[in-house]
Amino acid sequence: MATWWQSGAIYQVYPRSFQDSDGDGIGDLKGIEARLDHLVALGVDALWISPIFPSPMADFGYDVADYCDVDPRFGTLGDFDELLAAAHARGLKVLLDFVPNHSSSAHPWFRESRASRDNPKRDWYIWRDPAPDGGPPNNWISDFGGSAWEWDAVTGQYYYHAFLKEQPDLNWRNPALRAAMMDVLRFWFDRGVDGFRIDVLWHMVKHAQFPDNPPNPAYRPEMGGMHAVLQLHSTDQPEVHAIAAEMRRIADGYDGDRVLIGEIYLPVERLMHYYGREAPEVHLPFNFQLIEATWDARHLAALIDEYERALPPGGWPNWVLGNHDRPRIASRVGERQARVAAMLLLTLRGTPTIYYGDEIGLADVAIPRDRVQDPRELREPGLGLGRDPVRTPMPWNDSEHAGFTSGEPWLPLGPDWSTRNVAAQGGDEASMLALYRRLLHLRRKHAALAVGDFRLIEAEGDVLAFERRHGDERIVVALNLGAEPQPFALPEGDVLASTRGGTPKSGVLRGDEGVVFLARPA
Ligand code: GLC
Repeated sequence: MATWWQSGAIYQVYPRSFQDSDGDGIGDLKGIEARLDHLVALGVDALWISPIFPSPMADFGYDVADYCDVDPRFGTLGDFDELLAAAHARGLKVLLDFVPNHSSSAHPWFRESRASRDNPKRDWYIWRDPAPDGGPPNNWISDFGGSAWEWDAVTGQYYYHAFLKEQPDLNWRNPALRAAMMDVLRFWFDRGVDGFRIDVLWHMVKHAQFPDNPPNPAYRPEMGGMHAVLQLHSTDQPEVHAIAAEMRRIADGYDGDRVLIGEIYLPVERLMHYYGREAPEVHLPFNFQLIEATWDARHLAALIDEYERALPPGGWPNWVLGNHDRPRIASRVGERQARVAAMLLLTLRGTPTIYYGDEIGLADVAIPRDRVQDPRELREPGLGLGRDPVRTPMPWNDSEHAGFTSGEPWLPLGPDWSTRNVAAQGGDEASMLALYRRLLHLRRKHAALAVGDFRLIEAEGDVLAFERRHGDERIVVALNLGAEPQPFALPEGDVLASTRGGTPKSGVLRGDEGVVFLARPA
């Protein structure tokens, strides 16, 4: 029997932008609760909520000042309990975002750590003496540009931050820190959460000697400063696996199939290690290949094949088209192909994660310079690295501010919100939303789609076709990744879904057409 996180679909809520309930222009927990029925109607099984914890919001919640509470902008612990109960009452699971690599510099632990060199929490963070010339201890670069080391004049050492200086890295080699963070997992599991998405899991342990990272021969400045070196010694260290395994043991100690999903950007071979070799680690190391892929049939076929082959025995696959850090799929491949992409995401073998707004085909929103919020953009402007464009408010209807807030939204809505919104698409059989609902419904109805085997049929020209099979049930998915018609012979049977609606023509896929087909048993 498949577990819920294998057969089901996950939906990512970016809480600042989902639904505001109190008019401050920032989404909140009560807002999410008010919109749960959208998720039920959509047909997803779980929501993952990006960080909701008390935070100075230097990195919009990925700078946590208290791991066991809720930021007042989002509500209270009581609101969270209510949301969790309301979700569970609807059969929805709830995942939180665990941010173990770094805390906020406003966390009481860091305040203590920086107070003096002999503070008991000094070693909970990563402190090093300056290099002989007084500069930073090594050449490591923050993912947001610039040195990853910040000088602390009071105690005369540098501390390490893989992201902002307001996000000092925690020292997972310290047993007391490690125990305190494991207790955070228990705190939320005890409250009833169904799992976690673990932020930058592969960053958690650094090389014990802090050697320089090697220069990146492919570096070009427009890639962003972080790419000047390869993160050989600052990420993906062997010791991280025992930590992930400990998190897994904690999750497995609870009833009801709690799940751990790791955020890991690594080549497939190294990604697979996070399923666990000596002991189980995360259930799902996020597979971001579709986010980074060129939209080409042969390329996609090759990466799907490579991923499927690389999975360890018992390792369950997963797929992602977008998240709060990367350009939206509708902007990457265009509106018509975004429908084909949705069909791919929801028919591949493995757990799909849907980014909020993608179900109505939301595109990146251009942010006027004076409204930029994201520190990624503010620190390295103009390179297109900013993430505000993918974090804009969810348009629910055509009322003022799209039904998102009664106040001024923290980021602007896209130009098309009055027509591209949940209410408008909900009544339109040809809409993106209708397609998402249809595909998610099919996954629930057909075991071949939810848990069946995968076999590639064709990757020729613009056509990508594959088969899903479970017992006697055989489903064929044929996708035209281009705008021109392509020859493709569908088998005998019934069309279950099409990205273009109407009746597919025999022997040909129309431009931008994807078809899900139930083959008649031979
Ligand atoms: C992850 C998050 C991203 C955040 C970073 C630092 O990559 O997805 O939004 O900025 O970690 O926490």
